[in-house]
Order: sequence, then C-alpha cells, then structure tokens
Amino acid sequence: MKNKLFEEYQLGNIKLKNRSVMAPMTRSRAVDHNIPNQLMAEYYGQRAGAGLIVTEGTSPSPDGIGYPRIPGMFNKEHVKGWKLTTDEVHAKGGKIFLQLMHCGRIAHHLNLPEGAKVVAPSAVKAEGQMYTDAEGMKEHDVPKEMTTAQVFEAIAEYVDAAKLAVEAGFDGIEIHGANGYLIEQFLNPHTNQRPDEFGGSIQNRCKFALCVVKEVIEAIGADKVGIRLSPNGAYNDMQAYDEMEETYHYLAVELNKLKPVYVHLLDHSAMGSTPLPKNVREDIRKNFEGTLILCGNFDDRKANEALQNDEADLIAFGKPYLANPDLLERYKTGAGLNQPDMDTFYTPGEKGYTDYPVMAK
Ligand SMILES: Cc1cc2nc3c(=O)[nH]c(=O)nc-3n(C[C@H](O)[C@H](O)[C@H](O)COP(=O)(O)O)c2cc1C
Repeated sequence: MKNKLFEEYQLGNIKLKNRSVMAPMTRSRAVDHNIPNQLMAEYYGQRAGAGLIVTEGTSPSPDGIGYPRIPGMFNKEHVKGWKLTTDEVHAKGGKIFLQLMHCGRIAHHLNLPEGAKVVAPSAVKAEGQMYTDAEGMKEHDVPKEMTTAQVFEAIAEYVDAAKLAVEAGFDGIEIHGANGYLIEQFLNPHTNQRPDEFGGSIQNRCKFALCVVKEVIEAIGADKVGIRLSPNGAYNDMQAYDEMEETYHYLAVELNKLKPVYVHLLDHSAMGSTPLPKNVREDIRKNFEGTLILCGNFDDRKANEALQNDEADLIAFGKPYLANPDLLERYKTGAGLNQPDMDTFYTPGEKGYTDYPVMAK
C-alpha cells in the first residue's frame, strides 16, 4: 500500500504537496540583532520538499526573546530578513508558516535587547539554567508579573507580528502554545497564579491563548493560523496539575469555535519527557474538527500508520528534517538517513546547518 505521507493535502486555502511537516526548530543563527539572514533562507530553501515548513520559534516582542540569536518579528528589519526565506521557499515550490514564540520566563536578561524585560503571568522562576552568549550558563531570571494592561499589550504584539508575517510573505503563522513558553505559562496553574481575569479557573487560564488565537484570526484570517500544544509536557519546568485533561478538553472545544486551520500536538516522550496521553490526543481529535498535526519521534512507517488510522492529517518531523534536507526523497527510496549533530544545534554558522548532505541524483 502506498504511504499516505506522500499524498497531497488541502490545508485551508493552500495545497500541500505531501503530508509531511518540518517541525519548528530553534537554530539560533540570527546573529545580528535577531534579524533573519541569507544563511537561514538557504537552510529553509534546502528543506522546501516538505509539504509545510514551520519555522523556528520567532519572538513577537523584544520581551519574548529568551535565547541568544533567535529571530524576531516585531520590526521592518525582521520583515525584510524573513522575506529572503519566504522567497527562497516559494521559489522551490514549498509552503511556510512562521512560528510565533514568546519565551516569557524561559529567558535571561543578558539574551534580551536593551530595554526589554523578562515577563510572565506570575513571578515564578523556572528551575534550571540557560545559555547566554555574554556569560555562558546562567540561572533563569525571576520574571516580572505582567500587569493586566501588559497582558493585553502582549496579545496586541502577537497580532502585529502576524500581520508582519503576512507582509513578509508567510503562508500563515503557528502560535506556540507548547513547551513551557508564555502561552503554556498561562495555561498551567503552577506558573499562573494571577488574581485577575487571566488566572484561576480553567476558562481564565485559557483566556490568554484563546484571545491570541481569536485576535490573530481576526487580523489575518483563520486559514493562516495554527496553534501548537503539548498537553502533559514537562519541558521547561512545567509541573503536572490535576485539571490538565479538562484544560485541554476546554481548549479543543473553544478552538473548534474559533476554527484555526490546525492544531499541532507534540509528544516528547522519546526525548525522556512525559508522554502525550492517548485519551487527551483522542479527545482533541474528536472535539477539534480542523486539521490535526502530530509530532514526536515519527519515521515514515509510523507516520503512515497514524495517517491510515486517521489519528492525524499531517505528521511533523523535527530532527529528521534538521539532518536530512531531502527527507521525503530518502523515505521514498528507502535510503538511509543522516544523523543529527547535537553539538551544532544552536551554534552560529553553516556547520551542522546548511552542510548536511543530500543524496546523489
Ligand atoms: C534543535 C531543536 C530545536 C527545537 N526548537 C523548537 C522550537 O523553536 N519550537 C517548537 O515548538 N519546538 C521546537 N523543538 C521541538 C521540535 O519541534 C519537535 O517537537 C521535536 O524535535 C520532536 O520531534 P522529532 O522526534 O521528530 O525530532 C525543537 C527541537 C530541536 C531538536
């Protein structure tokens, strides 16, 4: 039987040439003031064989740049820089969404531009350390609790960034609601202890995520907006909580009313983290009628199985695309895969970035 991964797919108003998605991956190559550059355009262009590329996490705000050298989308230089990538990917027949990632408390002030601050729903510090170019490994900062007015400003920053993304030629945007960054910090009661309308009940904790989705959809259209979620994730010091299943059930039901073009679920159990529970995945599939993307430790065989079983409509691959620009060709021909080099995941320059070999024609 033919592998379903190679079939075309209609995602909203765009046709994808296959059902594989390149998962968003931070690569820290935006060395000059977080401005995307030609090297990044080359990297994404090499991977335009994916049905859809989702870019690395890109900050909608100076406050959201937690890490060194991650790209931004909050000024005209960012638009100009990202246009190099969208032009390159489109010239090669690919489609590309920009992932909007506000890091919130997963940050260190040494990584932020001048005047920016580490903010979060509540002043709860993340355990663990992070890398800074200036001073190496450092403890996370204690974030400043956002005022209610600042929460609304942050929502407006997502809207502005989404509009800039369309201006830069992106086919859409993915709102990063996973992996312990700002949006998940609002979802989780350990990191969200707010007394206002954005904290407390399930409805209030989901309000930030849903407001971002709603307002971004109003600005650029539902066909251009997806959201990534990681139910039960423990990454970035996210703690387990009793109402997790109900929280994601409520989110799925409410997202189904707003109709973003996709929900992208990830499971990091293969990376030693907590699994995405099967019942939560199935509940979201049942209650959200739009496109569902699954990600986490897939290969071509497992992808086909999930697609054939109607567990998902699209499958995202992270490390396999990182190390194999021609991943689908390799899957089609049964060729072996290059292995990813972890030492160069986040280092500046071409090494481990644009120099992974493709198969001989
Ligand atoms: C180097 C690297 C950077 C990543 N950066 C991001 C990111 O910016 N945003 C995000 O949502 N996930 C990020 N992830 C997670 C991936 O999107 C994906 O969920 C994960 O690698 C599991 O998929 P895989 O088993 O196919 O690699 C990153 C993963 C890797 C390996």
